[in-house]
Amino acid sequence: MIPLPKQMREFKKCFWMTSRVLYQRNADLPEKLFRFLVADLDAYYHNLISDGFLDDDNTMSVRFKLAPFTKKVPPDYYFLKVDNLAIQIQAESQNGLIHAVQTLKQHLYKAYHYVHDEFDEPGDLPCLEIRDWPSYPWRGLHLDVSRHFFDFKFVQRYLDWMARSKLNKFHWHLSDDQGWRLESRKFPRLHEIGAWRKDADGSVYGGYYTRRQVKAVLDHAALRGIEVIPEIDIPGHAMAILAAYPDLACVPRDFEVLKVWGISEDILCAGKDGVIAWLKELFSEVAELFPGQYVHLGGDEAPKQRWQACPHCQKRIKDEGLADEEALQGWLVKTLAKHLRNLGKTVIGWDEILNGQPGQDPIVMAWRGDGIDAARRAHDNGNRYILCPYTKLYFDARNNEYETVGTDQIILWGDVLGFRFSDYTFGRQQLLLGAQANVWTEHLADRADLKEKVANRLRPLAEILWNGEPVEDVWEFWDRWRDLNFTL
Ligand code: ACM
Ligand code: ZN
Repeated sequence: MIPLPKQMREFKKCFWMTSRVLYQRNADLPEKLFRFLVADLDAYYHNLISDGFLDDDNTMSVRFKLAPFTKKVPPDYYFLKVDNLAIQIQAESQNGLIHAVQTLKQHLYKAYHYVHDEFDEPGDLPCLEIRDWPSYPWRGLHLDVSRHFFDFKFVQRYLDWMARSKLNKFHWHLSDDQGWRLESRKFPRLHEIGAWRKDADGSVYGGYYTRRQVKAVLDHAALRGIEVIPEIDIPGHAMAILAAYPDLACVPRDFEVLKVWGISEDILCAGKDGVIAWLKELFSEVAELFPGQYVHLGGDEAPKQRWQACPHCQKRIKDEGLADEEALQGWLVKTLAKHLRNLGKTVIGWDEILNGQPGQDPIVMAWRGDGIDAARRAHDNGNRYILCPYTKLYFDARNNEYETVGTDQIILWGDVLGFRFSDYTFGRQQLLLGAQANVWTEHLADRADLKEKVANRLRPLAEILWNGEPVEDVWEFWDRWRDLNFTL
């Protein structure tokens, strides 16, 4: 199994998989989630046994229970027991039940495909008892849909991959220099203009998600225990926004949605009151559409030349008593964090936001280099932080030296297994929320490229995120991976 359950006892005795299954629940388990779990498990199960090999004389029963345990247990803890009479699943949280079903699916798969010794047959389900829980609350995967666009149906498949690996945070990078990807009621030019770019060969490239499609993604995610974190990257990486609303720049002109990768010197103005009011309205719309706790406002790679030359920005610096342009970005983050806090949200930003004293509210994503400096700075400033270091968890890197697609870096799946949370803990453990892998798509133009990058490293990622420790025995992991047929 991947991730390996924290506590597992396997028994010699086996339970015989039958074609008939009776699903039961206790009253506290909502009908909608119950129906989803049953459908998920049942379709999977009947795919496994669809050759009609198994007898129909007996009924296997699967009992779901959403209820407190008598002892105190960690968040999202679950209990799974297979004995010769029934399969029992219990958790205190819905996510606990959702994770238990994924574990059970892996157990069923292995039991069906791998006989244990010469006397066994497919259909013998070894009895077992599992007590399991995640080491970190943040187990994420990111997707850049700006550089290349992936439609909402594909995003749902991406969430399916995540769910099978017990990942619970989907970071959706919805805007960048090369495209805006969200239908906006308040500012429709964002999707009308900002979603489309003219590529070098003159063709138009782009797309965006309608509000209905976003809601379909959110529903899909919720049933799988995944929270969706929208990212609107400001004040840099904002050329698609400027192409739609040029007045948001320090000096307005005709901007274009970029067709090349890199860092733009043109960024949003932080001096004009109109820009601040506009951003508050935009983030209100985003906060209303996405039900989760978090909104990501980017903050990475924002060169300050325009602000240095802008009278509005310089006036803001003076009026607010700020030290410099970095502090102006800190002020911007603080202002928006306060606005979003009033809407019940917590903001997240890339680690550059620490350059400008953003206060302790924002959660910091440590990404530059190996992330250790950024993590330490966040920790020492009292900010909560999430790890996604460039040299370790950027999945747009190539998988090996033979691969031609991807960034110049090579990150082997074995490297991911060696990820050490202990390099990033400095005393106040509770500030470290967890980690995620980032999947930027400058070099990943289609699904096949993307899948190759994710498939090779997602299971190793799942292992280290769930258990919080590097994997020492790579071959033992390899055996477990093979048991899953190396599927995503
Ligand atoms: C980043 O990779 N620019 C956060
Ligand atoms: Zn300005």
